[in-house]
Amino acid sequence: MLLHIPNVLTQDEVRIIRTRLERSDWTDGRATVGAQGAQVKRNRQLPEASAEGRELAAIVQAALARNPMFFAAVLPVRSMPPLFNRYGEGEHYGDHVDGAVRVVPGMPGMLRTDVSSTLFLSAPEEYEGGELVVQDTYGEHEVKLDAGDLIVYPSTSVHRVQPVTQGERICSFFWTQSMIRDDARRSMLYDLDRTIESLRGRLGDCPETVALTAHYHNLLRQWAET
Ligand code: NI
Repeated sequence: MLLHIPNVLTQDEVRIIRTRLERSDWTDGRATVGAQGAQVKRNRQLPEASAEGRELAAIVQAALARNPMFFAAVLPVRSMPPLFNRYGEGEHYGDHVDGAVRVVPGMPGMLRTDVSSTLFLSAPEEYEGGELVVQDTYGEHEVKLDAGDLIVYPSTSVHRVQPVTQGERICSFFWTQSMIRDDARRSMLYDLDRTIESLRGRLGDCPETVALTAHYHNLLRQWAET
């Protein structure tokens, strides 16, 4: 499931993050990928361990924590601290799949990457090219969103970032381990959740919405890995 979640960050938060990123030191994006990714990745990233990176990541994490749509769609167990990247003219990231497991800085164990997220920090009119292209069974989907908007997609998908031909594309990105490993089940739960919310809006609480809510939670109980 590809899902567009609008206004994850307020425009004030976008401005604060952008201003601080202007004066940050950036490194080669190949620092955080394996051998296949390194061959096709040409961009710059904020260093993972920098104090600046951690503070900006905390702003994004707080925004995610208050977003019910993100929770319903992703059903997170935990996420990697968000990272930040920029693509200037000629930079791109060719077809690749994100690594299946990652070490979380400062946490024991590994994180399984079930859901990938890209949070746009540049407005679409600030750059040409730079679309995120995600493949699924329906073909390829091009994504270029307003600043502050987020796209979530299954980490199992092959995807790329098209070359930027003018201007600069700045984004945050991160991975989440979901309670629901399987994308199809996660999508079904999301659809059920949205449908119940819509019914509740029209009918208020009634025996049928209570029964469907019970069904949602019982499915989640069957499938959840925490
Ligand atoms: Ni990727």
